Amino acid sequence: MPFELPPLPYDHAALEPYLSADTLRFHHDKHHKAYVDTLNKLIAGTEFEGKPLEEIVRATARNDKHKKIFNNAAQVWNHTVQWNCMKPGGGGAPPREIADQIDQAFGGLDEFKKKFKTAAVDQFGSGWAWLVVKGGKLDIVTTGNAEPPFIDGRDVLMTCDVWEHAYYLDFQNRRPDYVGTFLDHLVNWDYVRERMRAPTAALREFA
Ligand code: FE2
Repeated sequence: MPFELPPLPYDHAALEPYLSADTLRFHHDKHHKAYVDTLNKLIAGTEFEGKPLEEIVRATARNDKHKKIFNNAAQVWNHTVQWNCMKPGGGGAPPREIADQIDQAFGGLDEFKKKFKTAAVDQFGSGWAWLVVKGGKLDIVTTGNAEPPFIDGRDVLMTCDVWEHAYYLDFQNRRPDYVGTFLDHLVNWDYVRERMRAPTAALREFA
């Protein structure tokens, strides 16, 4: 069975006024779909056809021979997580379970937001900002292009896409404003908590 583009967990206009329906139409219906379609073409008839998505990402990571498969598989994974990391009426205070760990790791929610925003803005070029957990401790990391941190044993709790296609229609070159808006108005802390409780679980969309 080829991979299918998971539907957005909300309507295209549901994140307005923070992210426009146009952004979601291009980003989900065009960019994300292209990664799914390209992945299906690339793996058809190969050892990867029919394998779980995470397994394909791990098996092709940092392997020049499989670079195209890795890039597309990882982008399918990253975007699927990303849509779930946002919701209408998001942002605000995280549930206690997450807030306690954020306090421990970063010294409070405001400090966390400041560090996450700085990391996301400092990621040069295309990439991703992540809240991860390794060895039971939260951390913020960024990666370039398509890399998800789980290939290095860091489990993903949350991500923010900082490729220009994620924000250019709404924010043009103002990446700091986009990341600030993501943190203040869009983060789906319930999903972050779900990932915190089962950080290595396969994405339900591809399970
Ligand atoms: Fe993207």
